[in-house]
Amino acid sequence: MAVTVVDHPLVQHKLSILRDEETSVREFRSLCMELTMLMAFEAMRDLELEDATVRTPVAEAKVKRLAGKKLALIGILRAGLVMVDGILSLVPNARVGHIGLYRDPETLQPVQYYSKLPNDVAERDVFLLDPMLATGGSAAAAIQVLKDEGAKRVRLLCIIGAPEGIQVVEDAHPDVDIILAARDERLDERGYIVPGLGDAGDRLYGTR
Ligand code: PRP
Ligand code: URA
Repeated sequence: MAVTVVDHPLVQHKLSILRDEETSVREFRSLCMELTMLMAFEAMRDLELEDATVRTPVAEAKVKRLAGKKLALIGILRAGLVMVDGILSLVPNARVGHIGLYRDPETLQPVQYYSKLPNDVAERDVFLLDPMLATGGSAAAAIQVLKDEGAKRVRLLCIIGAPEGIQVVEDAHPDVDIILAARDERLDERGYIVPGLGDAGDRLYGTR
């Protein structure tokens, strides 16, 4: 398994605004989408290409096109929804699935309440999307849901990851690559990422 932190200046700049407690709900949402698009360049770096030819107005050109497996974008509800929208603007033909999980505030354990996946998810390259990888419980559970449906190649995109969550996913699913915009310091006693950005769902939807 590989953990990649996307250190591109645009990503880091947008992340700095995302973290700021003064950032509005509206700006937070568009920054999440933009960050996901930028991270997708790294996450999709190893997609297979095939040779093709097209006629330009001038001559025949040898070109490369995406080949291989089709893609599935899976958002963990709620916060992963916005990331799905970001990547869909780059790969509009991808199929989309949703896994509903919330973290029990007492135990910090993930509770699943929903799952709707493309019926051919086993044949697709899967990108699992959630802005926050904290204890890792939600991501590890979602990956298990995908594997139970036959998914073989899963990449996990999170905007911020804590060392504890990265380790949990690494231990449970060593075959899954993780792509982050930042690896933060630690979790606090409530399971929040420090320094993090607070509660991603609340900041996206203005629910606090
Ligand atoms: C947040 C976040 C992740 C989860 C991460 O969702 O979007 O899904 O917490 O925490 P973990 O790594 O410790 O499992 P939350 O449970 O707050 O649900 P919500 O998006 O519905 O608010
Ligand atoms: N979920 C969030 O939204 N933020 C955190 O810091 C941890 C879990």
